[in-house]
Amino acid sequence: MIAAPQIADSWSPAGWRACPAVQQPDYADRELLLDVERALATATPVVAIEDSAALRALAARVAAGDGFILQGGDCAETLGQPQGPAVAGISDLFDQLGTHLPQPLVNIARIAGQFAKPRSSAVEQRGIIALQAYRGDAINGSDFTAAAREPDPARMIAIHAQSVETAQLLAGARIGRSPIFTSHEAMLLPYEQALARCDDEGRWWATSGHMVWIGDRTRQDDGAHVEFASGIENLVGVKCGPSQSADELIRLLDRIDPANQPGKIALIGRFGAEAIEQHLPALMEATRRAGRRVLWMIDPMHGNGRIEGSRKVRRVSDMLAETRAFFAIARASGVHPAGLHLEMSAEKIIECVGPDEAASTGHSFQSLCDPRLNAAQAAELVQLVAGLVPEPA
Ligand code: PEP
Ligand code: CO
Repeated sequence: MIAAPQIADSWSPAGWRACPAVQQPDYADRELLLDVERALATATPVVAIEDSAALRALAARVAAGDGFILQGGDCAETLGQPQGPAVAGISDLFDQLGTHLPQPLVNIARIAGQFAKPRSSAVEQRGIIALQAYRGDAINGSDFTAAAREPDPARMIAIHAQSVETAQLLAGARIGRSPIFTSHEAMLLPYEQALARCDDEGRWWATSGHMVWIGDRTRQDDGAHVEFASGIENLVGVKCGPSQSADELIRLLDRIDPANQPGKIALIGRFGAEAIEQHLPALMEATRRAGRRVLWMIDPMHGNGRIEGSRKVRRVSDMLAETRAFFAIARASGVHPAGLHLEMSAEKIIECVGPDEAASTGHSFQSLCDPRLNAAQAAELVQLVAGLVPEPA
């Protein structure tokens, strides 16, 4: 294995291949994979570079203490759903939630690329049958059959086509309204590499989405995902969970963003209501002491999963508690609370529990992955935040 490129000038979209890459599918058909990568390398960008640059500028303003980011959408998008109603739904949901939040508000949806899921276990066991885990529609199918679970490179073509359509519909739906930017976890690196494009000044951008993030399972500072993110100009999110030390976090930031650019990195805490007090103060203190111009956001979803029966349950009360703790810790640390990251849907679902038990009867669960908030539940979180956001200085 050759060493990862260390100097910015030598970065290339393929550089991640020299680094350990976790959570990647093992494609049996290498020829087809190459064909797909070649096709995507000249395919339409999902988003325009100038719009990603506009988001960077907005994020720099939030990093300086002015404004707030609302990020949210499905845990995982699915292929083949009609995109018109989905886009109209999420667009209206952002507008509803935004009325409670302070301006300038930056809207970022988990959409138009959120198809690849990191998994805690590579296999799923049901009774005596063990199959490869479902890794999102970008990689394999959710049906519990060996054929569906086989990773298929051609799926990248399909999710790219749907993402292009979704991003166009979203842009159209926002004419005359404040924009909603797109985002997804940059997990599937052959896809991300193929959609990296240079601007007129020779700088690289991921054109798979306006913002991309690195998940809690793929944020190793010597790993492939961090190497890829280190060379792109987009706003990059990093999920920060309970297993991360302050030293690791600073090493990661030195690696992704040695120039310490404002609005380049959004750190998205996801510790769980019971763990946030133990972990976040040291991480915030470390970024403050290092003079890091990062945005600190809170994801109260991913640290608050409980297994109840055979199902992963998330309680709104836990999410409210973690969000409240985030604002208190930020205030004590002198850090601007920069945003809220939710899994939410405009559909009439009940996937999370609460806030009152009556709201959780008639359970309607459609997510192929994690439980999402419905509009009323998301509004609970947003209203809490509205009361906690500090007035601009
Ligand atoms: C997600 O955002 O869907 C996700 C998998 O998050 P995390 O990496 O924080 O677990
Ligand atoms: Co999720």
